Amino acid sequence: MIVASTVAAARRWRAEGAGAVGLVPTMGYLHEGHLSLVRRARAESARVAASVFVNPTQFAPTEDLARYPRDLDRDRALLEAAGCDLLFAPSAEEMYPAGFGTAIDVGAVARPLEGERRPGHFQGVATVVMKLLQVVQPLRAYFGEKDAQQLAVVRRLVRDLDVPVEVVGCPTVREADGLAMSSRNSYLGAEERRAATVLHRALQAARARWAAGERDAERLRAVLREEIAGEPRARLDYAAVADPLTFQDLARVEGEALLLLAVFVGRTRLIDNMRLA
Ligand code: PAJ
Repeated sequence: MIVASTVAAARRWRAEGAGAVGLVPTMGYLHEGHLSLVRRARAESARVAASVFVNPTQFAPTEDLARYPRDLDRDRALLEAAGCDLLFAPSAEEMYPAGFGTAIDVGAVARPLEGERRPGHFQGVATVVMKLLQVVQPLRAYFGEKDAQQLAVVRRLVRDLDVPVEVVGCPTVREADGLAMSSRNSYLGAEERRAATVLHRALQAARARWAAGERDAERLRAVLREEIAGEPRARLDYAAVADPLTFQDLARVEGEALLLLAVFVGRTRLIDNMRLA
C-alpha cells in the first residue's frame, strides 16, 4: 500500500496504474463500518484508495475537531490488511493552502436536520468530497447509509456538478447490541455506552409500529421521542420521519421513508437512521 500525504503523490498513484479505482473517504479512527466500505470497494474495483482526513471545514467552532480521535498507524495497518492500495492522508494545509476560498453548497437537501443543527457542516463535507474526487478521480466512491443525509448530499453534488463517479451507498454496520459503529463511540464511558443502545431500540420500536400499520408520521415520531425519553442519560436533538430524497418531514408514510435520530448521550452526539420500505 502506498501512503500519500500530498495531492501530487496521490495524483501520481492515480496516473501510474491502470484499472477502475474505488475510493473510500474517511476521517480515520477506522472501525468495521469503514472497513465494510473498503471490502466492498476491493470486491468491485481493480484499485482501491482510502482517504483519512479529519476535515476542519465540516466542524463548527463549538464542535469536537480538536478531540476527534486519531490513530493513523492503526488506520494504515487496518487498510493494508483490507487490501487497500492507496492511503491518502493529507494535512489540513495540503487540502486548504493559504488563499483557499471555494465552498460548495448543494442546496435544499443540506438544509434540514443535520444541516439545521450543524450550520456549515454539509458545505464542508461537499467541498472536501469534491476535492477528494478530483484528486483520486475514482470510477466509484463508497459512502455509508449510517450518515444518510450526507449520502444524499453527495449524490446531489455528483449529479448537479456532472462528476463522473458512481456513488455507492453501503448498509450500516452495527455492534452486537445494535449500536451503529462510529468513531465517536470511543467518547462514551461504560454507562453511556450502555445507554447509547437506546437509539437502535427507538428506531426498532418505531419501525415495529409502522410494520403494524401505523402511517401517521407524527405518531411514529412520538414513538421515537418516548423511547429516547425513557433513557435518563440520553437527550433528544431531533426525531424525524422524512422523505429519503429531500429529507423533508413527512405527514404520512405512503411510500419509502427514513426514521432519523440525533441524540446526545452525555456530551457525545450520536446519529442513526432506519429505512421504512
Ligand atoms: P467518517 O465519519 O469517518 O465516515 C466515513 C464513511 O464511513 C462515511 O461514508 C460513513 O457513512 C461511513 N460509515 C461510518 N460509520 C459506518 C457504519 N457503522 N456502517 C457503515 N458505514 C459507516 O463521514 C465522514 O467520515 C466524513 O464526513 C467524510 C465523508 C469522510 C468527509 O469528510
